[in-house]
Amino acid sequence: MILCEGETLIGNPGSESSSCLACRRPTVADLDTGTTQVKTEKPLVEIGDFVEGLKTLPRFMATEVYGYVKTHPVEPESLSPYLLFSSASYTRNLIFKNERFELLALCWEIGQVSRIHNHRAQQCWMAAPVGKLSVQNFCVLDRDPEKKTCRLEPGQKYLITPTEPAEVDQNEPVHQVLNLAVFGERAASLHIYSNPIESCEVYSLEQGTYCDVPLYYTSQYGKLCDGETATPLR
Ligand SMILES: [Fe+2]
Repeated sequence: MILCEGETLIGNPGSESSSCLACRRPTVADLDTGTTQVKTEKPLVEIGDFVEGLKTLPRFMATEVYGYVKTHPVEPESLSPYLLFSSASYTRNLIFKNERFELLALCWEIGQVSRIHNHRAQQCWMAAPVGKLSVQNFCVLDRDPEKKTCRLEPGQKYLITPTEPAEVDQNEPVHQVLNLAVFGERAASLHIYSNPIESCEVYSLEQGTYCDVPLYYTSQYGKLCDGETATPLR
């Protein structure tokens, strides 16, 4: 299987500097190393109800979707059909898809990270009902579309936690998602892509290159895809 957001760490996740972005999601410099607990005053919603609410949003715009995700934290237990883990890579598990958006659960073993990537013009919102994730943004200083070369610079770094979702900044969409070993726990995140995406662009810091990579699912609607070997949460 070829994964867009693979399991191999590429380069230094970056510094705490934030010259890249100015968005409304929280910047967290002091990474908590304890086990993440869901501490929210908002009632948790089951994933089925979460999907129904997303489907009926009158406008699928940045503010509306972020506000919905922020005010509708998902009950982790309801995600059990989609929580599949693999020692080879984080997994991508499709929960729902229509023409407007797709919703995936990504499952991360301790230390697994994505490659540096973007979703091109597609919008993306992220939440972490289980554990927490670090996100490292990158500024693209320059790129050569013919040679497929580029230069990146680390930008803002922040956390996604059960109470703090995030959205990809459309002005600086290159990022890497990391379940850092220091967190010491598995993580499961929800990713809403609008529109659904079938490929993304991945970047190599070491080689100074980038390329298109197709995306695959580990499971769809709770059923493991052919050739996949991920195992359920235990
Ligand atoms: Fe992403």
